[in-house]
Amino acid sequence: MTDDKPGVPGETGQDAPVTADSLRERMRSAPVLAGPLPGFDPAAAGPAPGPVFARWLARALDDGVPEPHVMTLATAGADGRPSARVLLLRGVDIERCAFDFASEAASRKGRDLAEHPYAALTWYWPQHGRQIRAAGPVEILDRDTARRDFLGRREPSRAAGFTGVMSAPLDGPAAYQQARRRATAHIAAAPEDVPEGHTVYRLAADEAEFWQAGPAGQHIRLRYARDPAAPGGWTRGLLWP
Ligand SMILES: Cc1cc2nc3c(=O)[nH]c(=O)nc-3n(C[C@H](O)[C@H](O)[C@H](O)COP(=O)(O)O)c2cc1C
Repeated sequence: MTDDKPGVPGETGQDAPVTADSLRERMRSAPVLAGPLPGFDPAAAGPAPGPVFARWLARALDDGVPEPHVMTLATAGADGRPSARVLLLRGVDIERCAFDFASEAASRKGRDLAEHPYAALTWYWPQHGRQIRAAGPVEILDRDTARRDFLGRREPSRAAGFTGVMSAPLDGPAAYQQARRRATAHIAAAPEDVPEGHTVYRLAADEAEFWQAGPAGQHIRLRYARDPAAPGGWTRGLLWP
């Protein structure tokens, strides 16, 4: 398919117009999974996914992969309509293969999770050619955990928590600036206050998959599925890449 439309100006306004054709060409020549890539031996991966995740994350941190604790969270509410966004991983329970993240209960994801407490996470670490997927039920951790999470944050992040209702429509930049000033004054006056909706969620994976790019497209996929009847509580197997 070719694009006969004139295109749109680039972000700076000084560069060449951006067209669907130019984007397609540039995407085709953009490198992906370029390596050098680490190896992965699924036979040596062990019987449970939590330690594999921990080892892969530690390696990403060691090797300076940018923002390896950033992940995509996909949710769906009662209408079944999926919605995905990027979040920070706040903690890992290696033994249970569970992942903690924090957000606002009134946000879209919070509403989705209230209606359908089940979600999926993905991480992608380009330098390692690694993708991890995890999915499972999501629970809300106790208020004390939410409190510690919130109060452990730096000031701008705490001010953001009092600035407005996440995901609600915003009238404009002036309304935002005004709310932000109010929030900054509020946390100065009440430094121990925690927004009512600040919530720490825990996704306890009942499935997890480790995807390792290999040379010449020979990728490896290792999937774990929780199975109380299996020794160690998990079954595992390879998938066609
Ligand atoms: C790198 C990065 C990290 C983020 N971390 C969080 C986070 O930990 N918690 C959060 O609620 N939103 C975080 N956000 C904002 C979310 O992507 C999203 O905009 C927000 O949570 C509202 O999503 P929702 O309307 O789907 O609920 C982050 C965004 C980026 C780009």
